[in-house]
Amino acid sequence: MKTSKKARPSIIVIFGGTGDLAKRKLIPAFYNLFLDDWMPEKFAIIGLGRTELDNATYRTHLAEGLSEFSRTGTPEQQKWEEFSPNITYFPSNIDDIDSYKELASQLDALDELWGERANRLFYLSVAPRFIEAATLHINESGLASIPDKDRIVIEKPFGSDKQTAIALNKLLRQTFQEKQIYRIDHYLGKETVQNILAFRFGNALFEPLWNRNFIDSVQITVAEQVGVENRGGFYESAGALKDMVQNHLLQILCMVAMEAPASFKSEEIRNRKVDVLRAVRRIKPEEVQRYAVRGQYGEGWLQGKKVPGYREEEGVNPKSNTETFVAVKFFLDNWRWQGVPFYLRTGKRMQEKHSSITIQFKPVPHSTFSEGQMDNLMPNKLTINIQPQMDIRLRFMTKRPGLTMALNPSEMVFDYDTCSTQSPEAYETLLLDALNGDATLFMRSDQVEEAWDVITPIQEAWESRNTLDFPNYASGTWGPENAEALVAQNGHVWAVNAHHKTR
Ligand code: BG6
Repeated sequence: MKTSKKARPSIIVIFGGTGDLAKRKLIPAFYNLFLDDWMPEKFAIIGLGRTELDNATYRTHLAEGLSEFSRTGTPEQQKWEEFSPNITYFPSNIDDIDSYKELASQLDALDELWGERANRLFYLSVAPRFIEAATLHINESGLASIPDKDRIVIEKPFGSDKQTAIALNKLLRQTFQEKQIYRIDHYLGKETVQNILAFRFGNALFEPLWNRNFIDSVQITVAEQVGVENRGGFYESAGALKDMVQNHLLQILCMVAMEAPASFKSEEIRNRKVDVLRAVRRIKPEEVQRYAVRGQYGEGWLQGKKVPGYREEEGVNPKSNTETFVAVKFFLDNWRWQGVPFYLRTGKRMQEKHSSITIQFKPVPHSTFSEGQMDNLMPNKLTINIQPQMDIRLRFMTKRPGLTMALNPSEMVFDYDTCSTQSPEAYETLLLDALNGDATLFMRSDQVEEAWDVITPIQEAWESRNTLDFPNYASGTWGPENAEALVAQNGHVWAVNAHHKTR
């Protein structure tokens, strides 16, 4: 989380420098930080890749990415000319120790030029199978020899189950101390997700109500309109549970449900989040069917266009059993949340791109009003819209203007669009934090392992039993019918669908 201090001189080494992430997210983020004057006075970005490229070609490739993907659009020529000389390309082989030794001498030369040992940020934007070679070679070549100055950022997936996550953490710790490891979950960098903490702990008003005495249920929805796009091959071995629930949705759950941290120190906040994951009641294998619903999209219509089903996507097995939708009901076994259902739901090819958190409060304890007067009486509801709509809405009851007493739901709204400044992208926030050595918004090893533990029973039940009804929702809908039944068991409905239907 940003401070006003600029980071020390820094060298950023991107493994996977010619990849999609570097082009779409990382370089645009560094460039925008540069525009907003957040980059260190001295910095270098070195892109690593197997392809032979010269610096000029590499920079042009990245400039194209900026025009297409950066929130600030095509770079101004003068600004780009100031920024781009800091980028170089280093052709290398991730499996070959000699590449690392050569890289080490380049970094040493930069240190010498700058007259001080720069911080080093190694960004692993590579497939999981390369992580072992990269971290071991970084170690052997002495590239990351100063724990207070050198850091590693790694992208998910952090393993594919609890055991592999533990093994990965062990591997990383052969080279780096935990404080040097930055595991990215880009949802934590989203402005609206960070705002959950500001909203909860910057106001005296809501915290006294934030518990089982006043809250009836909580819903977290992350609905996407896109399908698997060109990632079919990867997605086949992932599925929505591992791709979205294990990380993004559980992290949001932590922000909503955590106890107030004593301070904003990274370890404090991360401790409180792990407490939440530990409190999540593990679903018994025989109960998975009652608590979790899986779905896979079939063909359908979206924005007036016919779209194919998941099994017809490139790289996908025509008989695939991979889920593209998950809805799950969790309970937290602690004093604050005992008995409050937390519904988490995510899916691809859904009717709308829409992510939100809904806090449903309990109804009034006694109805003061007569039957006709309270036709519209509804419990209070707080909605935190994460994306693309970014706002916070509080529903409360008022008197409908007129000569009779009748109730009417009204809304108080805080809308991000009314703030004048343009919100930074998640990667801008996270990369700046990594440069500054602030790990608050990154996942600690125990968080990752605990999150895997939470989903293990579901994962095991689903892996051991093929479902016979896939595809079970049409593209362009809100998912399978079973997901409605999951919430209906406790007398609830999905707030997002209801909200959209009544609008
Ligand atoms: C990624 C998942 O972590 O998050 C993707 O791997 C998903 O499958 C993406 O599409 C969603 O991110 P966002 O920021 O677009 O909501």
